[in-house]
Amino acid sequence: MRLTIADLFEGSSFYDAYQLYNRGAAYILEEGYKRAQENGVGIIDPLPLGDYVRSLPLVSYAAQLVPRFYVFSGTKSNLQNVASYGEVVSDPRAREPHSRVQQATGTETIVNQVGKKAADEKIKIAKNLAGIQGANFNVVFAYAKDLAKNISTHWQDDESFQNNMTYVGAKIIGKCFLGIDHLPREYVKLLRQANDLISGEKADPDQLAQMSEKIIQMSDALLDKNAQEVIAANRYANTQYPLNGDETEEEIKTKLINSHAGAGFIVESNLSFLLMVAIAYISESPEIYEQMMQEINRMPTETLDDTKQLTYMKCIYRETLRIASGTAVVPRVTSVYSEMEVENSEQEKHNCSIYPNSYLFFPVRMIHHNKALWPNPQAFDPTRFSRQIKSNTSGFIDKDFFAFSAGKRGCPAGTGFVEYAFIGFLTEFYKANKLQLDRPIETIPATAIHPRWKEEYYATIETLDRSIIKYG
Ligand code: HEM
Repeated sequence: MRLTIADLFEGSSFYDAYQLYNRGAAYILEEGYKRAQENGVGIIDPLPLGDYVRSLPLVSYAAQLVPRFYVFSGTKSNLQNVASYGEVVSDPRAREPHSRVQQATGTETIVNQVGKKAADEKIKIAKNLAGIQGANFNVVFAYAKDLAKNISTHWQDDESFQNNMTYVGAKIIGKCFLGIDHLPREYVKLLRQANDLISGEKADPDQLAQMSEKIIQMSDALLDKNAQEVIAANRYANTQYPLNGDETEEEIKTKLINSHAGAGFIVESNLSFLLMVAIAYISESPEIYEQMMQEINRMPTETLDDTKQLTYMKCIYRETLRIASGTAVVPRVTSVYSEMEVENSEQEKHNCSIYPNSYLFFPVRMIHHNKALWPNPQAFDPTRFSRQIKSNTSGFIDKDFFAFSAGKRGCPAGTGFVEYAFIGFLTEFYKANKLQLDRPIETIPATAIHPRWKEEYYATIETLDRSIIKYG
């Protein structure tokens, strides 16, 4: 057997430095998560004797110039502590991992904020996603169904599966969250490029600046053309500029345009990807398709109330969230010293020193693809969730399931908006259509930071005879 340099230094800081240089983010997640299995946190530190050197009074400043990486194991308490770092510890760099969102869109959003500012924004977002007493869930459900019902008018065969589905996801966000009904297809590619740039491994400042120019142009054009409808809809886009009450119509319109609220379309990516992953796996499995169709044919699917009975569809939803894990990590950055309580798998807790210039990662995707927790994790198997769904115990967070993060900084769309868009679109789509992909989809590694397919896929839609659908 030939020894490599890596073998000689395995387990040491030199090894971390070498592997970090070679494998980057994938090494941090894989090795960090492996180490986290022991005591709840795995530390990747390219600095020799990192803990010791960082605690020395004189050299610590220089030592802290070398970034350190903390990867946490999958417990609810670890997730809450990572997600709320920046809320609990006052740290101006906490939200730095999301700074590209601001750079690429030219707009500060909630992900760039902490404390009261973020909390106030969250209230506006939640209100717009759910509506009063959840009224907007009916709207998103009905709108997603409507898009599916009229899919033939939206689908373009010469466009890729991803482009078509991005259009669907973005239309749902536009209409049901932002209050912007009209979305020319030309913006689909731009939205995809923006998401890849924001979440990709590298992005230089010029690329981000150019992107922000294009996103602002898109927002300006959309808001200018649809100002009256956007103001009348009074949804999230309309909450993005202050009014003192004595503005003329023209002044309100100018304020709306200057808010760049149309940049909010970029949140479509997780939703579009979720829908396309579900459809791709269903189209690859005749068994899953059959079981789903039996339920759709047997049950009414017209109202939000009907969805409570759709247990298999709910399993498909959960399994899609798990396998897609579209937001792969919950990341934070530190610039101050603090101590964080860490929990291991035996629920024992201990304090861990967090040094400045560290990256904290809660590795959602690694957990969702851990074969000890989810046997055969790359297989799409909705029945994994049967027991929870039937006994009605599935929640926003479940055992080893953290798709929407948690606590104060959890995803506001995870409490219903995404689920109703998903179930509305899929049930209606499959009532009248079948979709065939041009080839099997690729597997995305568990360590992917930006889990999206690298290849473009194409799909044909076959319209079925609706008379075969029978309820009851
Ligand atoms: C479809 C699947 C989705 C998944 C899996 C997902 C997942 C997540 C996760 C994990 C976070 C936490 C990120 C962090 O703290 O670093 C988050 C935050 C957020 N998500 Fe989602 N999301 C989805 C869809 C959506 C949609 C459709 C919207 C809006 C319409 C949305 C709006 C937000 C917002 C505003 C935040 C920031 C919350 C905060 O910082 O307090 N998400 N999402």
